[in-house]
Amino acid sequence: MTTTPTAPAVPLLPAPHAGTCPFGPPPVYTEAATTAPVTRAELPDGDPCWLVTGYAEVRTVLSDRRFSADIRHPAFPLLVAGARKELITDNPTFLRLDDPEHARQRRMVTGEFLVKRVEALRPEIQRIVDEELDRMTAGRSTADLVADFALPVPSLVICLLLGVPYEDHDRFQSLSRTMLSRESTVEQLRAAQDEVLEYLRDLTTRKRANPEDDVLSRLAARDDLTAEDVAGTGVLLLIAGHETTANMIALSTALLLERPDQIARLADPAALPGAVEELLRLLTIVHTGLPRVALEDVELGGVTVRAGEGVIAMLSTANRDEAVFGGADHRATDELDLDRDARRHLSFGFGVHQCLGQPLARAELQIALETLFRRLPGLQLAGERAFRTESFIYGMRSLPVSW
Ligand code: HEM
Repeated sequence: MTTTPTAPAVPLLPAPHAGTCPFGPPPVYTEAATTAPVTRAELPDGDPCWLVTGYAEVRTVLSDRRFSADIRHPAFPLLVAGARKELITDNPTFLRLDDPEHARQRRMVTGEFLVKRVEALRPEIQRIVDEELDRMTAGRSTADLVADFALPVPSLVICLLLGVPYEDHDRFQSLSRTMLSRESTVEQLRAAQDEVLEYLRDLTTRKRANPEDDVLSRLAARDDLTAEDVAGTGVLLLIAGHETTANMIALSTALLLERPDQIARLADPAALPGAVEELLRLLTIVHTGLPRVALEDVELGGVTVRAGEGVIAMLSTANRDEAVFGGADHRATDELDLDRDARRHLSFGFGVHQCLGQPLARAELQIALETLFRRLPGLQLAGERAFRTESFIYGMRSLPVSW
């Protein structure tokens, strides 16, 4: 077994995207993956950590209880310099807690995002998608697909579900952008975190006084959750609920406009769910990887990860594993192939923290992409695209289109 080598193979995480294929991970990760499934890397604070790029190893990190997601652990790997002292609260959201506390809080909202529940929402999602397309196309033939479609659709859906007034979306959208940006200073991150929590705290108090038929009202009514727990969960759902899906809609559209021969697959109801899985696999928008810390020594991919060492599980390289997703009948795994069976992708994570909102994200993506290309068959790129490389969630800043 290899123990900690002196020089890191990957100098600094997260790696820049500059000058590379905008739909793929930074080459430094794919190169690391060809060397070994687990390699040394360095965090922005200068701390060493392990970069885990192999499919099997990523699944182990995310499902083995010897790896913790508790951000309060003193060696938890942080992708923002200087964040440890400033940003870690005593009361993190359940995304960054271990069981049993993680399970206790997650259980409070699992029912809201079950497949059956989301299936019943499809007509409502379809209505929102149609209305946004009506608005986008009314009296014009060009638009910015990000601002006019990809962002408002998931934003409206999550606001509706949570019971957050959509009029406030400008405010929380800019706050969540700051919270997800690697370019934000620690002070800006802290201010945004405080403001969005304050907003949710206020809203929770109002819901407690005047409950409605929405997730926040139901959470606010529980006496086994503190107001702080409800606000924290509200922030997590609000941010995870629109930034992720919005970027997937925009990136998928940009990629499909470069692969027009594959767009027809979206029109086949039997092929649509699989096509969306392939887009999720290839685009892997959580592109900076998932952080964990080892609680015990673990043998992983030919090295010993010592207790107290940080690991970053890189979903994008795991999702390109030829042994899992390749095969003679398919294009190489760094290419789009809407007929590929991509269901084993790790874009929603794996293990106990696996994405709670995945049935919702799938329904939104299927409806948004199918409707967009059906209603606007002449959709094409109409200017310079801008990608969002500075965010922890990869995506697009703007996508000018015409039809
Ligand atoms: C394409 C869209 C989405 C992607 C790619 C995505 C990806 C992910 C990933 C990778 C994780 C695991 C994080 C970890 O293990 O550290 C996660 C967790 C989570 N996601 Fe999503 N997500 C998406 C949409 C959504 C939506 C629409 C919602 C909610 C309404 C949501 C809510 C959550 C929550 C609450 C967690 C934390 C689960 C836990 O810790 O138990 N996500 N997501």
